[in-house]
Amino acid sequence: MAVPLLDLKAQYAKIREEILAAVGEVLESQRCIGGPKIAELEEKVAAISDCKYAVGVSSGTDAILAVLMSLDIGPGDEVITTPFTFFATAGCIARTGAKPVFVDIDPKTYNIAPDLIAPAITKNTKAMIPVHLFGQIADMDPIMEIADKHGVPVIEDACQSITSTYKSRKAGSIGLAGCFSFFPSKNLGGIGDGGMAVTNDSGLRDKLMMMRSHGQGARYYHEFVGGNFRLDPIQAAALLVKLPYLDRWSQARRDNAAYYDKKFEATPVETPYISPDCVSIFNQYCIRVPRRDDVVAHLKSQDIGCAIYYPVPLHLQKCFEYLGGKRGDFPHSEKASEEVMALPVYPELTDEMKDTVVEAVLSRLD
Ligand SMILES: Cc1ncc(COP(=O)(O)O)c(C=O)c1O
Repeated sequence: MAVPLLDLKAQYAKIREEILAAVGEVLESQRCIGGPKIAELEEKVAAISDCKYAVGVSSGTDAILAVLMSLDIGPGDEVITTPFTFFATAGCIARTGAKPVFVDIDPKTYNIAPDLIAPAITKNTKAMIPVHLFGQIADMDPIMEIADKHGVPVIEDACQSITSTYKSRKAGSIGLAGCFSFFPSKNLGGIGDGGMAVTNDSGLRDKLMMMRSHGQGARYYHEFVGGNFRLDPIQAAALLVKLPYLDRWSQARRDNAAYYDKKFEATPVETPYISPDCVSIFNQYCIRVPRRDDVVAHLKSQDIGCAIYYPVPLHLQKCFEYLGGKRGDFPHSEKASEEVMALPVYPELTDEMKDTVVEAVLSRLD
């Protein structure tokens, strides 16, 4: 039995008519830029994130970039983040001209290790970007404590963790700003690229609104240099259709995760650790296994989807050679890159599919 890593067609089949009607509405209106769908989505995403404001943008990447630009971060500045994340987190820091400063992860949660942050702070540190990886929020209390002590703003990279909670607080509501991605594989995924920044800071919200339109205040009067970071109203329309399903889908992912956890009990498979402070949305279900690459090859040969998030920690990426990172600098991130693999966890998986995945993994570990 073939099991894909993600089956967006299965999701689409259930909401096809709603999506077509919502997209059709935008097309009929020919409001192809901006419009009411975007404002409606912003209001709803702010509400589910316990934030006052949300600003729709063109991707999760652009949400991070626009927030960094709004904080005037640039050459000479340093921004702390983790090397075990999707490239965009550090890529955006580098694009502003600032220096990404990496801090290793907690090997249990894969999120930034709070106790390693303080030694990385210098007089040039201008922001921190903890990443809420795989659907679980980083240990934010100690992170906020260090950040507040040094007066450094915290930008949550919550691209994989919309509506996830930490001590009952929502992803994106704990730092100065939170960034979400609506990449189609996310729990709330569009029908193309999209993203959003959330904040409780009205000044930041106002600046982001301008930043996404080339720093424009009054029409054709530019107060600073921004970008074209606007969210597409067709994406907003599709996302508004999907939003009411989000909690159900995330719960189904949690149920699938619990199913796998049980099946992998007393096996060599290390299942995801979820802190008692957190409720994960399981954007990914990542296990650690010995001889990972062998297991991945076996699953692929059986038409079972799996993926490696992420095979190269960012301090070892070619484009960051100039930062002088070398193997051994961040041992937990490097080890995770060698051992972690993601299994299918999408909501529409059946028990039979999950059993197929479990059997295939275990058959390689006996
Ligand atoms: C942790 C993380 N940061 C940033 C991004 C960038 O989001 P996008 O692909 O929407 O630009 C993603 C998503 O792919 C992500 O997973």
